Amino acid sequence: MNRYGPTRSSLNRLFLVGILIICSLCVIPVISRFATFGSKQIAFTGPLLPPQKPNPFITDKKKSLEALDQELFNDILPSVALYTNRGVNLQITSLTCKMCRSIASKIGEIMMLNVTQTIAIEEGILICTAFRIQPYRVCAEILPKFGPWIMTVLANSVFSADNLCGKAHLCPMPDHPEKPELIDLPPPIPSEPLESIINEPSQDDEKMWVVHLSDWHFDPEYSEGYEVNCGEPICCRPPNAFGDKAKTPAGKWGEYNCDIPRRVIESMLEFMPNVVPKIDYILSTGDLPPHDVWAETQSSIKEITNKTANIWRKFLTSAPYFPVIGNHESAPVNSFPTSSLVNVSSVSWLYDTLSSQWNIWLTHNERHSIEKRGFYSARLPDDNMRIIGLNTNFWYKFNWWMLMRPKSEWDPENMLNWLIKELDDAEKLGEKVWILGHMIAVNGDGFPSFNSYFSQIIARYKDTIVGQFFGHNHWDEFQVIYDYHNGDEPQPVGVGYMAPSVTSFRNVNPAFRVYEIQKKTKKIINHYTYYLDIEEANRNDKPEWKLLYDVKTLYKLRDLEPQSWHDLSEKFLTDDDAYQTFKKIASRNQILNKYGSCNAFESSQQCKNRIVCKLRSTFSGYGPFSSHELCKKHIWIPHLPEDWFLTATLGKKINVFVDMNKFEGEEYGDGDGNMNDEDYGDSLDSLFESQDDNDKSGNGGNGDNENNDEDKPNDDITIEGLPKILVRMALGLVLGGDDAICR
Ligand SMILES: *[C@@H]1O[C@H](CO)[C@@H](O)[C@H](O)[C@H]1NC(C)=O
Ligand SMILES: *[C@@H]1O[C@H](CO)[C@@H](O)[C@H](O)[C@H]1NC(C)=O
Ligand SMILES: *[C@@H]1O[C@H](CO)[C@@H](O)[C@H](O)[C@H]1NC(C)=O
Repeated sequence: MNRYGPTRSSLNRLFLVGILIICSLCVIPVISRFATFGSKQIAFTGPLLPPQKPNPFITDKKKSLEALDQELFNDILPSVALYTNRGVNLQITSLTCKMCRSIASKIGEIMMLNVTQTIAIEEGILICTAFRIQPYRVCAEILPKFGPWIMTVLANSVFSADNLCGKAHLCPMPDHPEKPELIDLPPPIPSEPLESIINEPSQDDEKMWVVHLSDWHFDPEYSEGYEVNCGEPICCRPPNAFGDKAKTPAGKWGEYNCDIPRRVIESMLEFMPNVVPKIDYILSTGDLPPHDVWAETQSSIKEITNKTANIWRKFLTSAPYFPVIGNHESAPVNSFPTSSLVNVSSVSWLYDTLSSQWNIWLTHNERHSIEKRGFYSARLPDDNMRIIGLNTNFWYKFNWWMLMRPKSEWDPENMLNWLIKELDDAEKLGEKVWILGHMIAVNGDGFPSFNSYFSQIIARYKDTIVGQFFGHNHWDEFQVIYDYHNGDEPQPVGVGYMAPSVTSFRNVNPAFRVYEIQKKTKKIINHYTYYLDIEEANRNDKPEWKLLYDVKTLYKLRDLEPQSWHDLSEKFLTDDDAYQTFKKIASRNQILNKYGSCNAFESSQQCKNRIVCKLRSTFSGYGPFSSHELCKKHIWIPHLPEDWFLTATLGKKINVFVDMNKFEGEEYGDGDGNMNDEDYGDSLDSLFESQDDNDKSGNGGNGDNENNDEDKPNDDITIEGLPKILVRMALGLVLGGDDAICR
C-alpha cells in the first residue's frame, strides 16, 4: 500500500552528494563561496594525459563558470535533502537515471571550462573538507593522487552522463561499444561418459587439502592503544589519538574498524597446521595492502607486499602456493591500465615487483606471464591439472582505465581469449582446472559484458573447471553460475567460492578456508572455515582460532556440485533458519555486520529474494544475459518490480529504494552512450518541482503519502550540516565500496 509513502519527499538525496563527491574527486571548478578556505600549492603525482578527442559535453552555448556554479550549488543543492534512519540506514526514494543524467550533464558543462588541474584539485580538497567527506589530512592526500587519473580518463574516454550514472548504479552500466554478445568458443568435443558425481566418496578415496586465504589487508602500522573510531577510513594507527587520549583504544588482537595487525596473521598461520596437517596447495586471492588508500604510493605498496611475502616465506613454504592480484595492489587503488593505453604510466612496476617477491612460489614462466599482464597459468602435471590465476582488475568496473580502451579491445589484454585457450588445451589433455581470481565477474563487480562472457566460458568448460576461488567482498559467500543458452531453464554449471577475509575490516572476524578435495577428480567435496573472534581474543588476550562450520554438515548438502548450491539458494527462500545461518556466518558471527540487511520498504521475504537472486549470479547489468532478464523470466523472484535492479544493486551498498512509478513513462536514454539533448535538456527543473509539489500536497492525490510528516526530512539542509556518515557512504558509492572506502 504505502510502500513508498513516507520517504517520497526525500528526493534523490544521496545521489547528488555522490555527484558532488565525484566532482570533488575530479573536476571541481573554482567555487567562489569556498575560495576563502585558503590556497595551497599541490604537487601532482600519477598519470596524466592531454585530452585527445572532443568531449561530448562541449556545447555552443558555453556558460560561465560562475553561472554553472550558481546552478549546481544554488539551485540543485538546496533541492536536495538527506536524512538518516537510525544513523546509518539511509533511505532514498525517487532516484532516476534521467535525473542523474541531468546533474551529470551540469558537471560535464563545468568540466568543459578551462580550469587547471591545480585549481581543480585544490578546490576538490576544499570541498572534500568542507563537506566533511573526510578529515582534511585524508582529503589533501587522496585528491592529488586520484584527481589526475580520473581527469585523464574523463577527458579521453567515452565519459558521459551514462558512464557516470552507470557507475553510481543509477543507469544501465555503459559497456564497450564493440563488444560481441556471444564470444567464440571452440565447439564441445564429443562427450565421453561423464565422470560419476561424487555422491558417496568411499573411505579410501584419496584426498587433497587446499587452503584458501583472501583479502589480507595487513596493516603494519596497526598499533595497540590508538583510537579505534578515528574518523578516517581505517583507524588503530598513528597519527590518531593514543593511550589516555584515545576514547576507544585499539586492542592487541585487532578491531572491527581497522585492518589486521601482524600478530593476528601470524597466529593464524601458526594455527593452520593443527587443522590441516598436510596441505597440498595454498591459494591466495589478493588484496594485500591496508585500506589507507589516501596515503598509498607505489613505494608504500612495494613495501607492504614485500612485508607480506616475508610473512608468507616464514610460514607458507610447505606446499605450492598460488597468489593472484587484487584491486588494492595498485596505487592509486583500482588503477590497472592495459598495455594498449599509450602514454599512460603502466602498472609494470607492480607486476615486476610481485613477480620478484613471489619468486620462490612461481616458476619462471608463470612469473614472466605476471610481468607481462598480471595473470598466469600453472601446469601441475603430477596432479594432471592446472591452476589459472586471473587478473580480474580487467573486468572490474572501478578500474576506470577500462573506459579508455581502444574500440577494438573488448577483451582487455586478451585475457579471456587466453583463458579459453588454456581451458581448451586442458580439455584436450584431460586436465582439470581451478580458476583463481580476486573478484568474480558475475556478481556486479564486473562490467556487464564480462558477466555474460564469464558465464559462457564456464558453461562451455563446465566439465574441465572443477574449482573457482575468489574473494574481494570480505564476506563468506558463494556464487552459482548458470548456462543461459541451453534450453529454457538456466542450468547451474559452476560455483564460485568467495572466501572470507583475513582482515577484520569491516565488522567481520578474520577467517580462512580449507577445502577437502577428491584427488581423482579435483572436485571439492567439503570445505571448512576457521575464524578468530577478535573481541574474545582481546578480552582474554589470547587468540583462539576455531572451526566455524563445515559446509556439508551445516546445510546437509548431498555434494558440492553446482546443482546443490542452486538447491541451497532455493532452500534459503523457504527455510529461514538456513538463511539466518548463512547471514550469520557471512561475517563469522560478527553481529555488527550488515550482510543481507533489508531496507525499510521491503518485506523480509523480498529482502531475502534479493540476496538469493544475487547469490545466483544474476546481479549485473541489463541485456539478454542479465540478472534482470534472468530473475524476471524465471520468476525466481515473484512479481519482480521493474526497479529491482537499481534497488538490488544499490541495496548492496546502502539501503535504497527507487520509486520508478513516480517517473512513469520515462525511458532510459537512447543507449548510444553519449549525452544528447533529449536525454537531459531541462527536465531537471520539472522533476524537482513536481517533487516539491508532492511534498506540499501531503496525503493528497494518490494517497501514498500517509504519515509522511513524521518522517519528513529536513529540507533546509546546509552543506556544513550534511551528516558525515552519509557523505562517507556516498564516497563509498563512488569508489565502489560498502561504506566509506572500496574493498
Ligand atoms: C586555459 O588555461 C591555460 C593555463 O592556465 C592558459 O594558458 C590558456 O590560455 C587557457 N585557455 C583558454 C582558452 O582560456
Ligand atoms: C624486502 O624484504 C627483505 C627481507 O626483510 C629485505 O631484505 C628487502 O630489502 C626488502 N625489499 C624491499 C624492496 O623493501
Ligand atoms: C605519446 O607521447 C609522445 C611524446 O609526447 C607523442 O609524440 C605521441 O604522439 C603520443 N601518442 C599518443 C597516441 O598520444
